[in-house]
Amino acid sequence: MRKTEKSERVIERDRKVFMTTTREPYNFVAERGDGDFVYDIDGNRVIDFSSFVGVYNFGINSSISVRNAIKRQMDKLMHAAFTDYYSELPVDFAELFIKQFPAGFGKIFLSNSGTEANEDAIKIARYNTRKHYLIGFYGAFHGRSLGSLSLTSSKVVQRAHLGPFSEVIHAPYPNPYRCIFGHDDDPEECGRAHIDYMRDHILKREAAAGEIAAIFFEPIQGEGGYIVPPKSFVKGLRELADDNEILLVSDEIQAGYMRTGKFLALDNFGVKADIYTMAKSIGAGMPMAATIANSKLSDMPQGKHSGTFAGNLAIVAGAYEQLKHVSKNKRKIEMEVKEKGRVAMKRLQEMRNDYEIVGDARGIGMMLAIEIVKDKKTKIPDPKSRDAILKTALDNGLLALGCGDSSVRILPPLNIAKSSLEKGLDILESAIRKTV
Ligand SMILES: Cc1ncc(COP(=O)(O)O)c(C=O)c1O
Repeated sequence: MRKTEKSERVIERDRKVFMTTTREPYNFVAERGDGDFVYDIDGNRVIDFSSFVGVYNFGINSSISVRNAIKRQMDKLMHAAFTDYYSELPVDFAELFIKQFPAGFGKIFLSNSGTEANEDAIKIARYNTRKHYLIGFYGAFHGRSLGSLSLTSSKVVQRAHLGPFSEVIHAPYPNPYRCIFGHDDDPEECGRAHIDYMRDHILKREAAAGEIAAIFFEPIQGEGGYIVPPKSFVKGLRELADDNEILLVSDEIQAGYMRTGKFLALDNFGVKADIYTMAKSIGAGMPMAATIANSKLSDMPQGKHSGTFAGNLAIVAGAYEQLKHVSKNKRKIEMEVKEKGRVAMKRLQEMRNDYEIVGDARGIGMMLAIEIVKDKKTKIPDPKSRDAILKTALDNGLLALGCGDSSVRILPPLNIAKSSLEKGLDILESAIRKTV
Protein backbone atom coordinates (compact mmCIF):
# COMPACT_ATOMS: atom_id res chain seq x y z
CA MET A 1 0.00 0.00 0.00
CA ARG A 2 1.17 3.55 -0.75
CA LYS A 3 2.75 5.41 2.16
CA THR A 4 1.10 8.81 2.70
CA GLU A 5 2.33 10.02 6.10
CA LYS A 6 4.28 13.09 4.89
CA SER A 7 1.68 13.81 2.24
CA GLU A 8 -1.14 13.91 4.79
CA ARG A 9 0.81 16.43 6.90
CA VAL A 10 1.33 18.77 3.93
CA ILE A 11 -2.34 18.47 2.97
CA GLU A 12 -3.39 19.44 6.49
CA ARG A 13 -1.17 22.58 6.35
CA ASP A 14 -2.29 23.34 2.79
CA ARG A 15 -5.97 23.36 3.77
CA LYS A 16 -5.30 26.10 6.31
CA VAL A 17 -3.70 28.52 3.86
CA PHE A 18 -5.14 28.02 0.39
CA MET A 19 -8.46 29.20 -0.96
CA THR A 20 -10.54 27.22 -3.40
CA THR A 21 -8.87 24.85 -5.86
CA THR A 22 -10.15 22.12 -8.15
CA ARG A 23 -8.35 19.22 -6.51
CA GLU A 24 -9.70 15.74 -6.88
CA PRO A 25 -10.28 13.98 -3.59
CA TYR A 26 -7.00 12.12 -3.52
CA ASN A 27 -3.86 12.80 -1.60
CA PHE A 28 -1.03 13.11 -4.09
CA VAL A 29 1.74 15.54 -3.07
CA ALA A 30 4.20 15.76 -5.96
CA GLU A 31 7.90 16.19 -5.34
CA ARG A 32 9.89 15.44 -8.50
CA GLY A 33 9.56 14.07 -12.01
CA ASP A 34 11.81 11.65 -13.85
CA GLY A 35 11.05 10.40 -17.36
CA ASP A 36 7.57 8.86 -17.40
CA PHE A 37 7.35 8.91 -13.61
CA VAL A 38 6.47 11.29 -10.82
CA TYR A 39 7.49 10.81 -7.19
CA ASP A 40 5.52 12.08 -4.23
CA ILE A 41 7.07 13.31 -1.00
CA ASP A 42 6.59 9.90 0.61
CA GLY A 43 8.77 8.40 -2.12
CA ASN A 44 5.96 6.67 -4.05
CA ARG A 45 6.58 6.43 -7.79
CA VAL A 46 3.63 6.76 -10.15
CA ILE A 47 3.13 6.80 -13.92
CA ASP A 48 1.48 10.04 -15.01
CA PHE A 49 -1.58 9.76 -17.23
CA SER A 50 -2.57 13.39 -16.65
CA SER A 51 0.49 15.28 -18.01
CA PHE A 52 -0.33 17.42 -14.97
CA VAL A 53 -3.51 18.49 -16.73
CA GLY A 54 -2.25 18.68 -20.27
CA VAL A 55 0.86 20.73 -19.58
CA TYR A 56 3.61 18.20 -20.30
CA ASN A 57 2.90 17.05 -23.83
CA PHE A 58 6.65 16.62 -24.26
CA GLY A 59 7.58 14.93 -21.01
CA ILE A 60 7.31 15.39 -17.26
CA ASN A 61 9.39 18.45 -16.33
CA SER A 62 10.08 18.92 -20.06
CA SER A 63 13.36 18.11 -21.80
CA ILE A 64 16.87 18.99 -20.66
CA SER A 65 17.26 21.34 -23.63
CA VAL A 66 14.10 23.25 -22.61
CA ARG A 67 15.26 23.50 -19.00
CA ASN A 68 18.70 24.67 -20.08
CA ALA A 69 17.22 27.31 -22.39
CA ILE A 70 15.19 28.67 -19.47
CA LYS A 71 18.23 28.62 -17.15
CA ARG A 72 20.44 30.43 -19.69
CA GLN A 73 17.80 33.12 -20.20
CA MET A 74 17.34 33.51 -16.45
CA ASP A 75 21.02 34.41 -16.13
CA LYS A 76 20.75 36.98 -18.92
CA LEU A 77 17.41 38.67 -18.26
CA MET A 78 14.22 37.08 -16.95
CA HIS A 79 11.69 39.77 -17.68
CA ALA A 80 11.86 42.85 -19.87
CA ALA A 81 8.28 44.16 -19.99
CA PHE A 82 7.71 42.85 -23.50
CA THR A 83 4.47 44.72 -24.02
CA ASP A 84 6.17 48.03 -23.16
CA TYR A 85 9.65 47.56 -24.70
CA TYR A 86 11.00 45.30 -27.43
CA SER A 87 12.93 42.00 -27.21
CA GLU A 88 14.11 39.64 -29.96
CA LEU A 89 13.30 36.28 -28.37
CA PRO A 90 9.47 36.62 -28.39
CA VAL A 91 9.73 37.71 -32.03
CA ASP A 92 11.70 34.53 -32.84
CA PHE A 93 9.02 32.52 -31.05
CA ALA A 94 6.11 34.30 -32.75
CA GLU A 95 7.59 33.91 -36.25
CA LEU A 96 7.94 30.16 -35.80
CA PHE A 97 4.60 29.81 -34.00
CA ILE A 98 2.67 31.55 -36.77
CA LYS A 99 4.24 29.15 -39.31
CA GLN A 100 2.38 26.28 -37.63
CA PHE A 101 -1.00 27.84 -38.54
CA PRO A 102 -2.89 27.88 -41.84
CA ALA A 103 -1.88 30.48 -44.42
CA GLY A 104 -3.38 33.86 -43.62
CA PHE A 105 -2.74 33.80 -39.89
CA GLY A 106 -0.59 36.79 -39.19
CA LYS A 107 -0.29 37.98 -35.62
CA ILE A 108 -0.39 36.59 -32.09
CA PHE A 109 -0.91 37.92 -28.61
CA LEU A 110 0.96 36.24 -25.74
CA SER A 111 -0.46 35.87 -22.24
CA ASN A 112 -0.12 33.66 -19.17
CA SER A 113 -3.04 31.23 -19.06
CA GLY A 114 -5.81 29.66 -21.08
CA THR A 115 -8.49 31.86 -19.63
CA GLU A 116 -6.53 34.96 -20.66
CA ALA A 117 -6.07 33.64 -24.19
CA ASN A 118 -9.85 33.28 -24.43
CA GLU A 119 -10.47 36.74 -22.95
CA ASP A 120 -8.28 38.13 -25.68
CA ALA A 121 -10.18 36.13 -28.32
CA ILE A 122 -13.47 37.56 -27.01
CA LYS A 123 -12.08 41.06 -27.38
CA ILE A 124 -10.75 40.44 -30.90
CA ALA A 125 -14.12 38.99 -31.94
CA ARG A 126 -16.21 41.76 -30.44
CA TYR A 127 -13.92 44.54 -31.58
CA ASN A 128 -13.84 43.32 -35.16
CA THR A 129 -17.50 42.48 -35.56
CA ARG A 130 -18.88 45.24 -33.31
CA LYS A 131 -21.32 42.56 -32.13
CA HIS A 132 -21.77 41.46 -28.52
CA TYR A 133 -23.36 37.99 -28.20
CA LEU A 134 -21.23 34.86 -28.09
CA ILE A 135 -22.30 31.26 -28.63
CA GLY A 136 -20.80 28.60 -26.34
CA PHE A 137 -21.69 24.97 -25.62
CA TYR A 138 -23.01 23.01 -22.68
CA GLY A 139 -20.16 21.05 -21.16
CA ALA A 140 -17.59 23.57 -22.41
CA PHE A 141 -14.67 24.76 -20.35
CA HIS A 142 -12.95 27.94 -21.49
CA GLY A 143 -11.62 29.26 -18.18
CA ARG A 144 -12.62 30.98 -14.99
CA SER A 145 -12.16 34.72 -15.44
CA LEU A 146 -15.50 36.39 -16.00
CA GLY A 147 -15.47 36.63 -19.81
CA SER A 148 -14.36 33.07 -20.37
CA LEU A 149 -16.48 31.85 -17.45
CA SER A 150 -19.47 33.24 -19.30
CA LEU A 151 -18.66 30.73 -22.04
CA THR A 152 -17.86 27.90 -19.62
CA SER A 153 -20.79 25.64 -18.92
CA SER A 154 -19.19 22.56 -17.48
CA LYS A 155 -20.33 22.44 -13.85
CA VAL A 156 -22.81 24.64 -12.01
CA VAL A 157 -20.37 25.18 -9.14
CA GLN A 158 -18.06 27.05 -11.52
CA ARG A 159 -20.75 29.66 -12.21
CA ALA A 160 -23.05 29.75 -9.18
CA HIS A 161 -23.37 33.19 -7.53
CA LEU A 162 -20.73 34.73 -9.78
CA GLY A 163 -22.89 36.43 -12.38
CA PRO A 164 -23.98 38.50 -14.13
CA PHE A 165 -22.09 37.12 -17.09
CA SER A 166 -21.37 38.33 -20.59
CA GLU A 167 -24.07 37.64 -23.13
CA VAL A 168 -23.53 34.02 -24.11
CA ILE A 169 -26.08 31.65 -25.59
CA HIS A 170 -25.28 28.04 -24.83
CA ALA A 171 -26.08 25.31 -27.34
CA PRO A 172 -25.89 21.55 -26.84
CA TYR A 173 -22.59 19.94 -27.88
CA PRO A 174 -23.07 16.68 -29.77
CA ASN A 175 -22.16 13.57 -27.82
CA PRO A 176 -22.20 10.56 -30.16
CA TYR A 177 -22.51 8.22 -27.14
CA ARG A 178 -25.69 9.91 -25.96
CA CYS A 179 -27.16 11.89 -28.82
CA ILE A 180 -29.88 14.10 -27.39
CA PHE A 181 -31.64 13.98 -30.75
CA GLY A 182 -31.82 10.17 -30.62
CA HIS A 183 -29.13 9.35 -33.21
CA ASP A 184 -26.84 7.20 -31.03
CA ASP A 185 -26.37 4.88 -34.01
CA ASP A 186 -25.50 7.60 -36.48
CA PRO A 187 -23.04 10.20 -35.20
CA GLU A 188 -23.01 12.20 -38.43
CA GLU A 189 -26.80 12.50 -38.34
CA CYS A 190 -26.47 13.57 -34.71
CA GLY A 191 -24.02 16.30 -35.74
CA ARG A 192 -26.41 17.57 -38.43
CA ALA A 193 -29.33 17.61 -35.97
CA HIS A 194 -27.30 19.83 -33.65
CA ILE A 195 -26.56 22.30 -36.44
CA ASP A 196 -30.25 22.33 -37.45
CA TYR A 197 -31.15 23.08 -33.84
CA MET A 198 -28.77 26.03 -33.78
CA ARG A 199 -30.13 27.42 -37.03
CA ASP A 200 -33.78 26.85 -36.12
CA HIS A 201 -33.77 27.79 -32.46
CA ILE A 202 -30.79 29.92 -31.54
CA LEU A 203 -30.62 32.07 -34.66
CA LYS A 204 -34.40 32.32 -35.01
CA ARG A 205 -35.45 32.73 -31.38
CA GLU A 206 -32.54 33.77 -29.17
CA ALA A 207 -30.46 36.31 -31.06
CA ALA A 208 -30.20 37.63 -34.58
CA ALA A 209 -27.00 36.73 -36.44
CA GLY A 210 -26.37 40.47 -36.67
CA GLU A 211 -25.77 40.49 -32.93
CA ILE A 212 -23.57 37.38 -32.60
CA ALA A 213 -19.82 38.00 -32.69
CA ALA A 214 -18.41 34.51 -32.38
CA ILE A 215 -18.92 30.82 -31.70
CA PHE A 216 -16.39 29.49 -29.18
CA PHE A 217 -15.84 25.76 -29.15
CA GLU A 218 -13.42 23.00 -28.20
CA PRO A 219 -12.61 20.66 -31.09
CA ILE A 220 -12.66 17.88 -28.49
CA GLN A 221 -14.62 18.82 -25.41
CA GLY A 222 -12.10 18.42 -22.57
CA GLU A 223 -13.40 18.98 -19.04
CA GLY A 224 -16.83 18.08 -20.41
CA GLY A 225 -15.76 14.45 -20.88
CA TYR A 226 -13.34 14.13 -23.83
CA ILE A 227 -16.22 14.16 -26.25
CA VAL A 228 -15.28 13.96 -29.92
CA PRO A 229 -17.88 15.73 -32.07
CA PRO A 230 -18.97 14.26 -35.40
CA LYS A 231 -17.32 15.77 -38.50
CA SER A 232 -20.74 16.89 -39.77
CA PHE A 233 -21.09 19.09 -36.69
CA VAL A 234 -17.71 20.78 -37.01
CA LYS A 235 -18.16 21.37 -40.74
CA GLY A 236 -21.71 22.55 -40.04
CA LEU A 237 -20.44 25.06 -37.48
CA ARG A 238 -18.06 26.52 -40.06
CA GLU A 239 -20.91 26.84 -42.58
CA LEU A 240 -23.26 28.33 -40.02
CA ALA A 241 -20.58 30.87 -39.06
CA ASP A 242 -19.85 31.77 -42.69
CA ASP A 243 -23.53 32.07 -43.63
CA ASN A 244 -24.12 34.51 -40.80
CA GLU A 245 -20.86 36.49 -40.61
CA ILE A 246 -20.04 35.01 -37.22
CA LEU A 247 -16.42 34.23 -36.25
CA LEU A 248 -15.39 30.72 -35.28
CA VAL A 249 -12.96 30.39 -32.35
CA SER A 250 -11.20 27.07 -31.72
CA ASP A 251 -10.06 26.64 -28.12
CA GLU A 252 -7.03 24.38 -28.57
CA ILE A 253 -5.84 24.84 -25.00
CA GLN A 254 -6.16 21.17 -24.06
CA ALA A 255 -6.59 19.41 -27.41
CA GLY A 256 -3.97 21.29 -29.43
CA TYR A 257 -0.16 21.25 -29.63
CA MET A 258 0.15 17.72 -31.07
CA ARG A 259 -2.08 16.07 -28.46
CA THR A 260 -4.22 14.45 -31.16
CA GLY A 261 -1.22 13.99 -33.47
CA LYS A 262 -1.88 17.30 -35.22
CA PHE A 263 -0.63 20.70 -34.16
CA LEU A 264 -4.25 21.87 -34.22
CA ALA A 265 -6.96 19.47 -33.06
CA LEU A 266 -9.35 21.21 -35.45
CA ASP A 267 -7.29 19.90 -38.38
CA ASN A 268 -8.71 16.44 -37.65
CA PHE A 269 -12.00 17.74 -39.02
CA GLY A 270 -10.72 19.51 -42.15
CA VAL A 271 -12.01 22.87 -40.88
CA LYS A 272 -10.26 26.17 -40.17
CA ALA A 273 -11.19 28.67 -37.46
CA ASP A 274 -10.87 32.46 -37.53
CA ILE A 275 -9.19 32.63 -34.13
CA TYR A 276 -7.29 29.94 -32.19
CA THR A 277 -6.35 29.95 -28.51
CA MET A 278 -3.56 27.86 -26.99
CA ALA A 279 -2.00 27.47 -23.54
CA LYS A 280 -1.03 24.55 -21.26
CA SER A 281 1.69 22.66 -23.19
CA ILE A 282 2.97 25.56 -25.28
CA GLY A 283 4.85 26.86 -22.20
CA ALA A 284 6.64 23.51 -21.63
CA GLY A 285 5.70 23.60 -17.92
CA MET A 286 5.73 27.38 -17.55
CA PRO A 287 2.65 29.66 -17.67
CA MET A 288 2.16 30.82 -21.21
CA ALA A 289 -0.72 31.22 -23.64
CA ALA A 290 -1.30 32.58 -27.11
CA THR A 291 -4.19 33.90 -29.16
CA ILE A 292 -3.83 34.00 -32.92
CA ALA A 293 -6.21 35.58 -35.38
CA ASN A 294 -6.69 35.40 -39.12
CA SER A 295 -5.06 38.41 -40.77
CA LYS A 296 -8.42 39.49 -42.20
CA LEU A 297 -9.34 40.51 -38.64
CA SER A 298 -7.86 43.85 -37.86
CA ASP A 299 -5.32 44.34 -35.13
CA MET A 300 -6.67 46.05 -32.01
CA PRO A 301 -5.39 49.58 -31.38
CA GLN A 302 -2.53 50.19 -28.99
CA GLY A 303 -3.69 50.13 -25.37
CA LYS A 304 -6.72 47.92 -26.02
CA HIS A 305 -5.05 44.81 -24.61
CA SER A 306 -1.74 44.09 -22.89
CA GLY A 307 -0.27 42.37 -19.84
CA THR A 308 2.76 42.75 -17.58
CA PHE A 309 4.10 39.23 -18.04
CA ALA A 310 3.08 38.68 -21.68
CA GLY A 311 6.24 37.57 -23.48
CA ASN A 312 8.24 37.01 -20.28
CA LEU A 313 11.71 36.13 -21.56
CA ALA A 314 12.51 33.15 -19.33
CA ILE A 315 9.18 31.54 -20.21
CA VAL A 316 9.45 32.26 -23.92
CA ALA A 317 12.99 30.81 -23.93
CA GLY A 318 11.60 27.41 -22.89
CA ALA A 319 8.58 27.66 -25.17
CA TYR A 320 10.77 28.55 -28.16
CA GLU A 321 13.17 25.67 -27.51
CA GLN A 322 10.24 23.24 -27.35
CA LEU A 323 8.56 24.73 -30.41
CA LYS A 324 11.76 24.29 -32.45
CA HIS A 325 11.67 20.60 -31.53
CA VAL A 326 7.97 20.30 -32.43
CA SER A 327 8.31 22.19 -35.69
CA LYS A 328 11.32 20.12 -36.80
CA ASN A 329 9.84 16.74 -35.82
CA LYS A 330 6.15 17.27 -36.52
CA ARG A 331 5.68 14.32 -38.84
CA LYS A 332 7.57 11.96 -36.53
CA ILE A 333 5.60 13.15 -33.50
CA GLU A 334 2.35 12.73 -35.40
CA MET A 335 3.20 9.12 -36.31
CA GLU A 336 4.28 8.37 -32.76
CA VAL A 337 1.10 9.85 -31.26
CA LYS A 338 -1.06 7.93 -33.71
CA GLU A 339 0.73 4.65 -33.00
CA LYS A 340 0.58 5.00 -29.20
CA GLY A 341 -2.99 6.25 -29.46
CA ARG A 342 -3.89 3.12 -31.44
CA VAL A 343 -2.30 0.85 -28.83
CA ALA A 344 -4.08 2.65 -25.97
CA MET A 345 -7.44 2.84 -27.76
CA LYS A 346 -7.35 -0.90 -28.53
CA ARG A 347 -6.88 -1.63 -24.82
CA LEU A 348 -9.64 0.82 -23.86
CA GLN A 349 -12.03 -0.77 -26.34
CA GLU A 350 -11.21 -4.18 -24.91
CA MET A 351 -12.03 -2.82 -21.45
CA ARG A 352 -15.31 -1.51 -22.84
CA ASN A 353 -16.08 -4.95 -24.23
CA ASP A 354 -15.07 -6.79 -21.06
CA TYR A 355 -16.57 -4.67 -18.25
CA GLU A 356 -20.22 -3.72 -17.87
CA ILE A 357 -19.30 -0.41 -16.20
CA VAL A 358 -17.10 0.81 -19.06
CA GLY A 359 -19.74 2.33 -21.30
CA ASP A 360 -17.63 4.14 -23.87
CA ALA A 361 -14.03 4.49 -25.06
CA ARG A 362 -13.29 7.56 -27.15
CA GLY A 363 -10.79 10.17 -28.24
CA ILE A 364 -8.26 11.04 -30.92
CA GLY A 365 -4.51 10.42 -30.78
CA MET A 366 -3.44 10.57 -27.15
CA MET A 367 -6.45 12.48 -25.86
CA LEU A 368 -8.49 9.48 -24.73
CA ALA A 369 -11.10 8.61 -22.13
CA ILE A 370 -13.35 5.86 -20.89
CA GLU A 371 -16.75 6.60 -19.44
CA ILE A 372 -17.89 4.73 -16.34
CA VAL A 373 -21.61 3.96 -16.21
CA LYS A 374 -24.01 1.93 -14.06
CA ASP A 375 -24.54 -0.45 -16.95
CA LYS A 376 -24.28 -0.46 -20.73
CA LYS A 377 -28.02 -0.46 -21.30
CA THR A 378 -29.02 2.59 -19.25
CA LYS A 379 -25.70 4.46 -19.73
CA ILE A 380 -26.33 6.21 -16.41
CA PRO A 381 -23.07 7.95 -15.37
CA ASP A 382 -21.46 6.46 -12.27
CA PRO A 383 -19.17 9.09 -10.73
CA LYS A 384 -18.74 7.08 -7.50
CA SER A 385 -17.24 4.13 -9.33
CA ARG A 386 -15.12 6.47 -11.45
CA ASP A 387 -13.68 8.09 -8.30
CA ALA A 388 -13.04 4.66 -6.78
CA ILE A 389 -11.16 3.64 -9.94
CA LEU A 390 -9.01 6.78 -9.82
CA LYS A 391 -8.19 6.19 -6.15
CA THR A 392 -7.34 2.50 -6.58
CA ALA A 393 -5.23 3.35 -9.63
CA LEU A 394 -3.26 5.91 -7.62
CA ASP A 395 -2.69 3.47 -4.78
CA ASN A 396 -1.24 1.11 -7.37
CA GLY A 397 1.01 3.57 -9.16
CA LEU A 398 -1.04 5.49 -11.75
CA LEU A 399 -1.89 9.17 -11.57
CA ALA A 400 -4.98 9.91 -13.66
CA LEU A 401 -7.77 12.50 -13.72
CA GLY A 402 -11.49 12.46 -14.16
CA CYS A 403 -13.48 14.53 -16.66
CA GLY A 404 -17.16 14.96 -17.50
CA ASP A 405 -19.66 13.34 -15.13
CA SER A 406 -17.94 9.98 -14.85
CA SER A 407 -15.04 9.61 -17.28
CA VAL A 408 -11.35 8.86 -16.78
CA ARG A 409 -8.84 10.72 -18.94
CA ILE A 410 -5.91 8.95 -20.52
CA LEU A 411 -3.61 11.91 -21.12
CA PRO A 412 0.02 10.83 -20.73
CA PRO A 413 2.95 12.82 -22.09
CA LEU A 414 3.12 12.13 -25.83
CA ASN A 415 6.66 10.78 -25.51
CA ILE A 416 5.79 8.24 -22.80
CA ALA A 417 7.60 4.93 -23.34
CA LYS A 418 5.34 2.20 -24.71
CA SER A 419 6.20 0.03 -21.70
CA SER A 420 5.00 2.76 -19.29
CA LEU A 421 1.86 3.31 -21.35
CA GLU A 422 1.06 -0.39 -21.23
CA LYS A 423 1.88 -0.64 -17.53
CA GLY A 424 -0.41 2.34 -16.84
CA LEU A 425 -3.23 0.71 -18.78
CA ASP A 426 -2.69 -2.52 -16.81
CA ILE A 427 -3.05 -0.56 -13.55
CA LEU A 428 -6.18 1.14 -14.87
CA GLU A 429 -7.74 -2.16 -15.89
CA SER A 430 -6.92 -3.78 -12.57
CA ALA A 431 -8.56 -0.79 -10.79
CA ILE A 432 -11.70 -1.30 -12.90
CA ARG A 433 -11.70 -5.03 -12.09
CA LYS A 434 -11.50 -4.23 -8.36
CA THR A 435 -14.36 -1.72 -8.64
CA VAL A 436 -16.85 -3.87 -10.55
C1 LIG B 1 -10.16 23.78 -23.24
C2 LIG B 1 -9.68 24.67 -22.13
N1 LIG B 1 -9.80 26.01 -22.26
C3 LIG B 1 -9.39 26.84 -21.30
C4 LIG B 1 -8.83 26.37 -20.14
C5 LIG B 1 -8.39 27.33 -19.08
O1 LIG B 1 -7.00 27.35 -18.98
P1 LIG B 1 -6.30 27.98 -17.70
O2 LIG B 1 -6.61 27.08 -16.54
O3 LIG B 1 -4.84 28.01 -18.06
O4 LIG B 1 -6.86 29.34 -17.52
C6 LIG B 1 -8.69 24.99 -19.96
C7 LIG B 1 -8.13 24.45 -18.70
O5 LIG B 1 -8.31 23.31 -18.32
C8 LIG B 1 -9.12 24.12 -20.97
O6 LIG B 1 -9.02 22.79 -20.85
